[in-house]
Formats: sequence, structure tokens, C-alpha cells
Amino acid sequence: MAIRINGSDVAVPDDARVSLLDLLREGLHLTGTKVGCNQGACGACTVLIDGQRVLSCLTLAAQADGRSVTTIEGLGSGSDLHPLQVAFIEHDGFQCGYCTPGQICAAAAMLREVEAGIPSYVTADLAAERLTLSREEVRERMSGNLCRCGAHNGIVEAILRVAAEHAA
Ligand code: FES
Ligand code: FES
Repeated sequence: MAIRINGSDVAVPDDARVSLLDLLREGLHLTGTKVGCNQGACGACTVLIDGQRVLSCLTLAAQADGRSVTTIEGLGSGSDLHPLQVAFIEHDGFQCGYCTPGQICAAAAMLREVEAGIPSYVTADLAAERLTLSREEVRERMSGNLCRCGAHNGIVEAILRVAAEHAA
């Protein structure tokens, strides 16, 4: 039993009660993934499993058995930043930075959801061939990720820029 985490195989913990968040932070010292509420309300702990966003505080490590987990460390770091990381820096998409890893992981998955044509609560035209990512759409789709510093305007602009670059 193993979980592929940022490209390396990691054994599933013997204790079936260990959350994915605790495995990442306490077991593997991947502290880029943050603990906020620890009960599914803030999004700080968001990581990707097989490219989809999940709250790692509400996910048992055992549920990721045989799957591929990507944390912020696996998305990009140092001189090899993910385009969202670059855009967050350039658009002041953070202040203290505590929510940022979760925001960026969520945004990476959210952009794929849009590309796959998955509508949100505010999508007006469900029959549209291609979804348009408005500010309202980004706010709705990112509403599970809170920022106590109030950097939401910069976060939205950063995501819109990456979406536009991708579409170009
Ligand atoms: S720490 Fe997981 S949602 Fe808040
Ligand atoms: S940048 Fe501080 S909580 Fe979001």
C-alpha cells in the first residue's frame, strides 16, 4: 500500500485514523500544506489528488492509497514556479501567505474544472460550449478558500491572468 506524493512513493500509515494532512505535515514535513480550521471550513489544507482538489484535513491518508497526491511543494518551487505562483506574486495575491498554498492548489484544480466544462452555482449559460471565467465565477469557485488578510482581489486577478494566458 503506497501513496505517490509529489512523485515519490510513501507508505500508507498503519494507523487508519491518520488524516492526509497529518501525514503530509507531521509525517513527511511537507509543511507547505497549512492547518487552519482542521474541520473543512477554510481551505488552507487543500491539496490535489489525481489532479482534483481535496481538503486534506477531511481526507484519511488511507483514502489516497494507490493515488497521486500533489502538494504546493510538488506544484512548483524555487526557480521553477508554477504560473499561478508567479501570478500571485505579481498581483499581490497574498499578505501573510498562510492561505496561499491552499489557494494555489485549489486554483490549479479549478482551472481544470472550467476547462472540462463543469458549471458553478453562478454559471448563467449551462449550454455554452466554452465557459467564460468572470470575476464572479472565480469568486464563487474559490469560495471554499478563505483569506483572513483579505487578499481576495489580488487572488482573483492572478487567477484570471493565468486563465487568460492559458486560453491565448
Ligand atoms: S484546515 Fe482543512 S479546511 Fe480548514
Ligand atoms: S494571505 Fe494571509 S490569510 Fe490569506
